Amino acid sequence: MVGTVLWLHDAPGTVRAGPPEGDEHPMRKVTKQVAFDGGWDEERRRKMAGLFDSMAADWTASHDSVERRASITDALTRGDVRDGRVVELGSGSGMGTQQLAERFADVVALDLSLQMLLHAPASAGARVQGDSSTLPLRTASADTLVLVNMLLFPAEIARVLTQNGQLVWVNTGAERTPIHLMPEEVIEALPGTWAARAGRAGTGLWCVASRVT
Ligand SMILES: C[S@@+](CC[C@H](N)C(=O)[O-])C[C@H]1O[C@@H](n2cnc3c(N)ncnc32)[C@H](O)[C@@H]1O
Repeated sequence: MVGTVLWLHDAPGTVRAGPPEGDEHPMRKVTKQVAFDGGWDEERRRKMAGLFDSMAADWTASHDSVERRASITDALTRGDVRDGRVVELGSGSGMGTQQLAERFADVVALDLSLQMLLHAPASAGARVQGDSSTLPLRTASADTLVLVNMLLFPAEIARVLTQNGQLVWVNTGAERTPIHLMPEEVIEALPGTWAARAGRAGTGLWCVASRVT
């Protein structure tokens, strides 16, 4: 059974920017393959780490903005994200991690790219280098997994989240985000049945999904 997505009204100040990025964008293809076809191997891991290592020094200056942060804040607020052990996957240079660390006491940031982690502010949670396709985390050990503009590895999400855990999915550029899935696609990709609340704020869109028990 495919789960349901409840869309909330757009938050005040939502910006609906331009036409969607085309499905032929290389990162779009990788995103779909990883979510639906297990399209991940050592070669792809190596290339992805190298790509983001090379962009790390400029990432915050070129990607952090009030409008992008607004979609993360809105997800945490209107998505009713509960306190607990929070792990951010693909944390990059810490834009999302900073917001998480302001709200939650127990935050870990994980990324494949060592350079991204080294460019994140020290105040923004504990930082771990790792691959989200094989998370160095125990089964059912995270209350919340946060993915901001990050690839979805459905099997590992389902394994690591607690039974009542929440997945927070944010695309800070909405349909223009290269690593993009609509909320309906996110819950379709996850094993089992999930329900999500979704919304738009700033330039982005988000959903918060949990298992239907
Ligand atoms: C588009 S960036 C987003 C960074 C940050 N979340 C943001 O929105 O500014 C994607 C991030 O995911 C990381 N990443 C890609 N594949 C990964 C994997 N398999 N495991 C962990 N991190 C990964 C990259 O190194 C990069 O930092």
